[in-house]
Amino acid sequence: MSQALQVKSPGRLHRKALALGFLFLAAACRPAAPPDPELGARLYRLHHCGHCHGPRGEGRKGAPRIAATRLGLRAFRGRLRRPGSVIMPAFPAGRLSDDQAAHLHAWLESLGPPAGIEPPHPRADK
Ligand code: HEC
Repeated sequence: MSQALQVKSPGRLHRKALALGFLFLAAACRPAAPPDPELGARLYRLHHCGHCHGPRGEGRKGAPRIAATRLGLRAFRGRLRRPGSVIMPAFPAGRLSDDQAAHLHAWLESLGPPAGIEPPHPRADK
């Protein structure tokens, strides 16, 4: 009996599976903006991150360096959503979407460590 059910209108089942497949694909292909460092730089200014972290994320008294961040995207986003101190304002998804967090992260990652982080090369001229 179950066999009879199985062979019953395989075409319909097939079409259903196809339709589901397309729905899934459509969801997966939703314009997931690739992280864009330039957008990240703009968001950084827009949200005044530099007010505390310095114009290029170099860090200031009280706010750590975030240029060349070693935080992965998930951890980075976590710090935005739930900062580790009361000084850093929280940026919930309504203020800064996951995509925007990824842009910011891409920009900060693209910045090298600020000058002064590496020990200066010994002077060769004297
Ligand atoms: C009012 C000052 C202030 C502003 C504005 C601010 N931050 Fe912060 N931020 C801090 C302080 C202080 C800390 C250190 C405490 C902590 O980890 O929450 C911090 C920590 C962080 C950390 C964790 C760094 C680490 O390595 O643990 C990240 C990432 C970060 N901020 C990103 C941002 C971004 C991106 C923005 C803008 C969207 C921003 N912050 C705006 C003050 C600020």
